[in-house]
Amino acid sequence: MNIPIARSSLTEDEIQSVLEPLSNGWLVQGPKVKEFETLWSVFTGAQHSLAVTSCTTGMELALAALGLKPGDEVILPAFTWIATANVIEHFGAKPVFCDIDLATFNIDVQLIESLITDKTAGIMPVHLFGLSADMDPILALSKKYELWVVEDAACGFGAKYKGSHVGSFGDVGVFSFHPRKAITTGEGGMVTGSNEELITKIQQLRDHGAVMSDLQRHLGAKPYLLADHIHAGYNQRMTDIQGALGAKQMERASDIIDERRSIADKYNEAFAGLEWLGLPADIAGYEHGYQSYPCLLKPEPVSINNVEKINAARNNWMDELQTNGISTRPATHAVHMLTYYREKYELKSEDFPNAYIANDCSISLPLFHGMTSEEQDYVIQTVSNKTF
Ligand SMILES: Cc1ncc(COP(=O)(O)O)c(C=O)c1O
Repeated sequence: MNIPIARSSLTEDEIQSVLEPLSNGWLVQGPKVKEFETLWSVFTGAQHSLAVTSCTTGMELALAALGLKPGDEVILPAFTWIATANVIEHFGAKPVFCDIDLATFNIDVQLIESLITDKTAGIMPVHLFGLSADMDPILALSKKYELWVVEDAACGFGAKYKGSHVGSFGDVGVFSFHPRKAITTGEGGMVTGSNEELITKIQQLRDHGAVMSDLQRHLGAKPYLLADHIHAGYNQRMTDIQGALGAKQMERASDIIDERRSIADKYNEAFAGLEWLGLPADIAGYEHGYQSYPCLLKPEPVSINNVEKINAARNNWMDELQTNGISTRPATHAVHMLTYYREKYELKSEDFPNAYIANDCSISLPLFHGMTSEEQDYVIQTVSNKTF
């Protein structure tokens, strides 16, 4: 067996779908991108969806439209992919890290208020690994202190909170279509939101600041006249090749989520008796999208005092699994421990203890739609046979 941590699984129809834009000649931000956006809105309940080149660039557009400026502060979890912090940094603003809840790997909402200052401009909760952040208290704080909220929903496809799909709670939500995500366009992202003015600005910024898109111009009364440009914008347009691939996958969006959930259910049942393994949180009122299957190794209660010892045990186990043909990864990284942020803001690992523990003791097991039952059984058998 050789089981990767994730494997993109595209149907023949999905593979063929990219030929249509290649044949009809509309290659960038045309009808296929529009179709993908519409299907995304229908599926997630977003009022507006705008396809972009990645989640990272989508978040940059959101922050630009919200007017983030040097000196501003933005609160984000310390345990997330580095992109969440980088986009804040790109505006000369300061990422203010907040520790996480180890049970969910998401931002600890109890700690946010103490980090708010008169420089705070917004909060960026992350729906890590397909589990929604606890949005009600975050939205309450945003209202109380007049802060914007940008949801990093890179991993959020299929994640619901109190019945609603993530991406529409904050001012803006942004998803990723990187190959480790449930829906992939190679690279790609989707910005969602309901604030018309903000979404219009993001739409314009995406396309060099043009007042209307090429598609709107071509469908309008005077397609031969160029649009005016009202911002110094960016080029973050998705190609129609990617749009076609995304739109085609949306036809089986529910099946993809169901399949991932059923693999997770199988794991949850099989691993329930392993006291040394903390499983992904299963909370009433939340629906997990299982972008991945993040666990916490805890052969003994983990704390800042034994984190190094458990880190060594985790790394040995990862090595053993790799030798046995099962790829794993740390769930993600603690951004405050990465050289750039550690040095620039003079941070220590212990400043955010739970993020530190998650960084050192988490392990994601392979979970992807298209995973065969033999592969699932092999993971279950190998993990279950392990003792600590
Ligand atoms: C939490 C989080 N935010 C942002 C990103 C960046 O997404 P993209 O690669 O589409 O820019 C990722 C990608 O893995 C992620 O996991």
